[in-house]
Amino acid sequence: MDTTHALDTPPTGATADWTVPQDWAHYKPEEHATWDTLFARQAKLLPGRASEAYLRGLDVLKLSKPGIPDFAELSDRLMKLTGWQVVAVPGLVPDEVFFDHMANRRFVAGNFIRRPDQLDYLQEPDVFHDVFGHVPMLADPVFADYLEAYGRGGQRAMQHDALNYLGRLYWYTVEFGLIQEPEGLRIYGSGIVSSYAESRFALDDPSPNRIGFDLARVMRTDYRIDDFQQNYFVIPSFDELLRLTVETDFAPLYEQLKAQPDIPVAAIVDGDDVMTRGTQAYALGKRA
Ligand code: PHE
Ligand code: FE
Repeated sequence: MDTTHALDTPPTGATADWTVPQDWAHYKPEEHATWDTLFARQAKLLPGRASEAYLRGLDVLKLSKPGIPDFAELSDRLMKLTGWQVVAVPGLVPDEVFFDHMANRRFVAGNFIRRPDQLDYLQEPDVFHDVFGHVPMLADPVFADYLEAYGRGGQRAMQHDALNYLGRLYWYTVEFGLIQEPEGLRIYGSGIVSSYAESRFALDDPSPNRIGFDLARVMRTDYRIDDFQQNYFVIPSFDELLRLTVETDFAPLYEQLKAQPDIPVAAIVDGDDVMTRGTQAYALGKRA
């Protein structure tokens, strides 16, 4: 999610809810080939790294079928599993539109795919990030409930002028979350699972901090959008994430957070459950 938007009315061709037809028939063979290249590379890397729920989703949704997935077909499968659908949008949409779709179990996905020279990195979410990164987790019943609750939480946070806090929760769970599974630490955040380099960095590199998840701590923490994260937060289970976020009334929490300073990206603070104290060598090396 991004809270800066160039447009505030739907672009031509879009409906009032900002959705557009995916227009699957119009993808060029080169575009399907880009998906296949990205898919093959990630699918090989993720067993033993991605959470079980993610790998199961990839499998049950048949995302290994060659080419960019057809959202209609994907939505049929997903609807039967958890009641979610995937709808196409031309790019970033306004927050209230994003939250309304989410609260109604519609996941908005970009319909364009990155160019062949952008395989490793791009700032705007494309269909590979959105579908390969996010959609498998929506096949998990608990995560599916979490994201719907998040959508309603977003509508509420807007009224409390607290989107910056709630946005960090999204960032450090949905986009860049880690989970402690019985077999070891695993990735489930879409920004990690869809990135060749970060899916290794997040688990193996000594640079970043890995800290046990704490709701207020996460919502106070800055993040970076331009490079690998300097902090990852580790949840014990999706059940626990759902329980914590649903059972906590965020309104008083927002008021407390507004009275406290934000926490800089790489800082360790009192009370942190530090699982890895990162060297920050990667980030420091870049600055030098
Ligand atoms: N319980 C949150 C609130 O009071 C809503 C929420 C649920 C937010 C799940 C995020 C995730 O606003
Ligand atoms: Fe994303």
